[in-house]
Amino acid sequence: MTEKERIIPGLDGVPIAKSTISFIDGEKGILEYRGFPIQELVEKSSFEENSFLLLKGRLPTKSELKEFDEQLKENRELKFRFIDILKAFPEAGHPMNVLQASVAILGMYYPINDVEDEKEVERAIIILLAKIPTIIAAWNRIRHGFEPLAPRNDLSHSANFLYMILGKEPDVKMTNVMDASLICHADHTMNASTFTARVVTSTQAKPHAVISSAIGALSGPLHGGANEHVVKMLRSIGSVENVRPYIQNMIRSGSKIMGLGHRVYKVKDPRAKILQKLAELYFATHNSTPLFDVAKEVEKYAVSILKDKKIYPNVDFYSGIVYERMGIPTDFYTPIFVMARTVGWLAHWREQLAGNRIFRPTQIYIGEHGKKYIPVDQR
Ligand code: ACO
Repeated sequence: MTEKERIIPGLDGVPIAKSTISFIDGEKGILEYRGFPIQELVEKSSFEENSFLLLKGRLPTKSELKEFDEQLKENRELKFRFIDILKAFPEAGHPMNVLQASVAILGMYYPINDVEDEKEVERAIIILLAKIPTIIAAWNRIRHGFEPLAPRNDLSHSANFLYMILGKEPDVKMTNVMDASLICHADHTMNASTFTARVVTSTQAKPHAVISSAIGALSGPLHGGANEHVVKMLRSIGSVENVRPYIQNMIRSGSKIMGLGHRVYKVKDPRAKILQKLAELYFATHNSTPLFDVAKEVEKYAVSILKDKKIYPNVDFYSGIVYERMGIPTDFYTPIFVMARTVGWLAHWREQLAGNRIFRPTQIYIGEHGKKYIPVDQR
């Protein structure tokens, strides 16, 4: 087999871009955004500031942060016609499908003509970041027959989202946990959805097409969809005593345990560590959930069996448990991931455009050649 005939399944280890946005060391469990360790950003930054950092490559000054925050606040509302469209979607529509369609529709309300015009690019970024949380929260109410709640400009990005989806103003601790979770999910080098975003960007498609395509890629259970499946799995395990037989059964049948394993991390995902810690802190004052004990037992037992394959919890393992305790419906966990990751996708959109060449890989054709066409009545 020549080098040209060798395919690399899953493009494992194949670099497809040079990037300054985020960095992972999978052996040491390090994640950095623009050079800053994730732990430091979670502790000291906010979703708004972290978004500015990822998008612009540096921390904002006080006045830049204020301006960025105000722009987001001013653009949170949805037009009434847009809300009418949401009302026409089937009530059983999965929020990820609703979100993917809605983002594509946003592109018709806020068209961008020139992806190289800096003003248009900035505007598209603000529209997407500001309106996606409102769409997510609106869908939760609309599907149950209620009117969406209007966004509140006196609240931060995270607090306003929690207010719109839960219908009550969150306390400071809940807001901080959501903010930290959004920071943890904001970017993660060249994963499947970010690669999707870069491929679509490379065709010079508009940003709404880029983000809606990436949402589709994120929705799968092997990627962002795992957080929803983790909580479903923990619920069906039910109790700590059931963990061993359940996990043994999954491993015997060759099923993947949701929320475990990662292409790059060969140790516990640093984001899983942060989210587990946040869960502990949150549950200390907001009552724990039996699912947390089940999750810790799943981690302990599954890791003891799978450690030779270097399988440990990833970001999706503990996030859903926290969202569940906040009262957020299970099928909204992956849309929350979208809220956060849109920042990363947009940063990659800009980076890809700055040195663009259309993605056009190749294949190894293994089919037949020169076949003779037989008319249908002679087959
Ligand atoms: N449970 C049990 N075994 C696992 C798991 C798991 N969750 N993950 C990997 N393995 C095993 C595989 O069976 C395989 O074993 P083998 O060598 O004996 O065949 C080995 O570990 C390597 O697994 P691959 O699937 O080849 O690893 P890959 O890098 O292609 O996939 C992935 C990574 C998709 C994350 C995988 O670990 C998985 O499916 N995990 C469960 C889904 C999940 O949690 N996804 C979220 C990932 S994080 C994110 O996208 C935000």
